[in-house]
Amino acid sequence: MANDPLKTKLTGMLGIEFPIVAFTHCKDVVDAVVNAGGFAVLGEAMHTPDEIAADIKWIREKVGDKPFGIDLVLPASAPPAGALAELQKEIPETHLKFKQEINERHDIPEPKNPPALHQWGGLNQEMARAQLDVVLEERVPVFTSGLGNPGFILEAAHSRDMLVFGLIGKTRQAKRELEEGVDAIIAQGTDAAGHTGPIGTFSIVAEVAAIAGDTPVIAAGGVTTGRHLAAALCLGASGVWTGTLWLACRESDSDIIIKEKLLAASSDDTIYGRSVSGMPMRTTKCVWTDEWGKPDAPKTLHAPYQMLLSADYIQSANDHRREDLMFEACGQGVGFVTAMKPARQIVADMVEETLDVFDELTADDPVTA
Ligand SMILES: Cc1cc2nc3c(=O)[nH]c(=O)nc-3n(C[C@H](O)[C@H](O)[C@H](O)COP(=O)(O)O)c2cc1C
Repeated sequence: MANDPLKTKLTGMLGIEFPIVAFTHCKDVVDAVVNAGGFAVLGEAMHTPDEIAADIKWIREKVGDKPFGIDLVLPASAPPAGALAELQKEIPETHLKFKQEINERHDIPEPKNPPALHQWGGLNQEMARAQLDVVLEERVPVFTSGLGNPGFILEAAHSRDMLVFGLIGKTRQAKRELEEGVDAIIAQGTDAAGHTGPIGTFSIVAEVAAIAGDTPVIAAGGVTTGRHLAAALCLGASGVWTGTLWLACRESDSDIIIKEKLLAASSDDTIYGRSVSGMPMRTTKCVWTDEWGKPDAPKTLHAPYQMLLSADYIQSANDHRREDLMFEACGQGVGFVTAMKPARQIVADMVEETLDVFDELTADDPVTA
């Protein structure tokens, strides 16, 4: 093949070897992926500013000058400080009763620890601002946020030689962020783990690539193989952004119960709904998602109320390590996550498979070659 298909606008912009981005909450995965020639972003929304500063230092010691990113929830997407107790009082009686019935039907014990409120529950606007200040002070090479438009931070970030990537689920959000000047757009399809939009990866990536001009587009949602990476490049993306792929890797600190669940799961074992946080989110199926999917269940509440409702369930599931209750954010590509491989191996396998796919596609006689 004349050109290396893995040398893209994204690899050029970041100075990395392969256009593979890992989103993870585990620093060891960041270390492994970055040192294997990919790029990695550490999700730090649930960490204090001091913890974030310590993690950045740790990563720098491991990866040297190689770039990495930090992902946070933006202040505008978080509730004000001190609001949680008040918000709790506003949860309707019907919903509290339904939660109690779920507890009784499934013999769910009280959590052992106070709930680590999900996603932004442990967070508030003041904390989100302080987290952001650390990322700016530390001049982290790339800043991203899965929730909210990062346009307001562009000037501050660019003046510190930082890049800002916007993560979107709809083309009109991409258009706005491109006009504001983000450095790359992550086009995330509904196949993705976690909070995500309703549009499929195949459609959103092609639509955003068509309007992105020179700005790199990174495809997210359901990407777990080299074949997916090859397809993403064909759709006009300059790389892939992956989350589920790393949850069961050797370095991942996910609970072994979750790892085993993921290794056995396929696309149909994930569910897209609002029962966990009040916002559309894809996770593995579990008692909680099943119960809220029943026809007689109350309508889920908006965020953050639904998140406050699910917090005890999540804490109990994890504290008591109940396999039937535990779940994780998980994308529809999970069926290809079948072995607990080291992250470096995952990168190498994905690269090899992608190149094989392009060789197949460009062979003189694709039938006999
Ligand atoms: C366990 C888990 C937690 C996630 N948490 C966040 C988060 O806090 N912030 C964010 O921007 N994206 C988060 N995501 C979504 C990823 O950034 C990414 O868009 C998604 O995993 C891509 O889809 P895939 O899992 O099918 O590869 C999470 C994904 C997973 C698997």
